[in-house]
Amino acid sequence: MNRKYRKTIIAGNWKMNMLASEIKPFVEQLKENLPKTKTCEIVLCTPAVMIPAMVKYGKECKIAAGGEDVSKFEKGAYTGEISAAQLADVGAKYCIVGHSERREYHGESDMLVNEKAKALLAKGISPIICVGESLAQREMDLTMEYVAYQVKTALSGIDATQLRRCVIAYEPIWAIGTGKTATAEQAQEVCEGIRAVIRKIYGARPARAVSILYGGSMNAKNAEELLAQPDIDGGLIGGASLKPVDFSVIVKATDQD
Ligand code: 13P
Repeated sequence: MNRKYRKTIIAGNWKMNMLASEIKPFVEQLKENLPKTKTCEIVLCTPAVMIPAMVKYGKECKIAAGGEDVSKFEKGAYTGEISAAQLADVGAKYCIVGHSERREYHGESDMLVNEKAKALLAKGISPIICVGESLAQREMDLTMEYVAYQVKTALSGIDATQLRRCVIAYEPIWAIGTGKTATAEQAQEVCEGIRAVIRKIYGARPARAVSILYGGSMNAKNAEELLAQPDIDGGLIGGASLKPVDFSVIVKATDQD
């Protein structure tokens, strides 16, 4: 982390878990365990139908509500889709785009991720842009090449002012939901590489200000070491974000100098 230049963010990705009725008790338990002074921005990304409840009850802990996906279209005949304006209307401040599960199960391309990020920015929502390599790519030593391509494509046509609202999440696919975490060194290496890619496009200052999160089995035990890395500005957390006590431990792990 480098709090001098950028925001530290601990974001949960609830995926297709939990119910709206479970949010109030979740937030109450989280509140009991959170420190009085906040050293990071707390975000919880949930299925869109749960965002209103997160906005309502999350206020207690200053939680920013987020979505997990958005349509690239502004509005119209797209049955089942949810627009950026609709997310903004119910109070979403963030939204994940390009999660590997969407790429894998819904065939989302880097171009589509770029269009979705732009749709969010147009409505004042911060996209959390997910990138990350497969195990095969890592084993073939293609990690940085692939991740650099993903970052460049996702940011295409996004100017430096809009970049300030963007968050990048590095999530190696092989570490998601597997209990296998990238080592702090591996995660730092790629997050540093992502910042270098952004520096090449936008210059030193904008690159220094972008928050880059690590995701992939971050938990109460390994968060501190990962967050101690200079280019890891927070986490995007799946499984451990469903447990208020574990999630609070991760939030507390941002309190380091
Ligand atoms: P896990 O923390 O469960 O590995 O999930 C990571 C993730 O996919 C966050 O978006």
